[in-house]
Amino acid sequence: MSVHRNARKVTTHTLLEMKRAEEKITMLTAYDYSLAKLVDQAGVDVILVGDSASNVMAGQVTTVPMTLDHMIYHAQCVQRAVDRALIVVDMPFGTYQGNSAIALESAIRIMKEAEGHAVKLEGGSEIIQSVERILTAGIPVMGHLGLTPQSIYKFGTYTVRAKEEEEAEKLISDAKLLEATGCFAIVLEKIPRELAKRVQESISIPTIGIGAGPDCDGQVLVLHDLLGITMDFSPRFLRRYLNLAEDINSAITNYCEDVRAGSFPNDSESYTS
Ligand code: KIV
Repeated sequence: MSVHRNARKVTTHTLLEMKRAEEKITMLTAYDYSLAKLVDQAGVDVILVGDSASNVMAGQVTTVPMTLDHMIYHAQCVQRAVDRALIVVDMPFGTYQGNSAIALESAIRIMKEAEGHAVKLEGGSEIIQSVERILTAGIPVMGHLGLTPQSIYKFGTYTVRAKEEEEAEKLISDAKLLEATGCFAIVLEKIPRELAKRVQESISIPTIGIGAGPDCDGQVLVLHDLLGITMDFSPRFLRRYLNLAEDINSAITNYCEDVRAGSFPNDSESYTS
């Protein structure tokens, strides 16, 4: 019997059950009401209000400038649309690193003002006090290891992480630490598939991969990449299911032609007195 199809509302517990039942978890980003509604109605299990909004919504080069107020605004828009999926909200850069009191305050704002269901933090042992403190308030936490875009200025590049054994060992020990501390799932971004499999087998909470191969318990993509809205981003792991940029361009071009030719609006598109 499918765990996820039975779930009227997806909870962190549903995801754990899905891992145990070896049912794959689906996760996608959303940042606004209209697309979040479509994503939820299509049956996605987890909607991530990702700080990738910084790139795809705000046109910024990195996720670093994202603020807590921005994240809360996007999460509020998504929350109004969603009936079934679990909503996870990214904690933006600067709201949890190095100060667990600020981390707790920020997570509480996300839960109270946006009614998110959980928060996601990037990092392992370096941020564990913040994870611990947020969990004490009963707020579920999703971890994020491997390529952690908020640390781009430390890495210097968005290339595959943890190819060397030392970094791989640290990643596995961070995953175990996040599980022991109480995280309900961990995103693994852009790491070798063999390492993702080792992590998946070493912990009993779900791993959700992006560029981490097929052995994770679930997969996540940025919605705008999957739909082919963002065309300047083509990593190996990305499968585009639509070329929406092309379709949108031709729809708008046709609209402009019709307006310029005077054929829009026609009689049936006009009111009479
Ligand atoms: O912000 C985001 O979209 C993410 C995903 C890439 C996992 O963190």
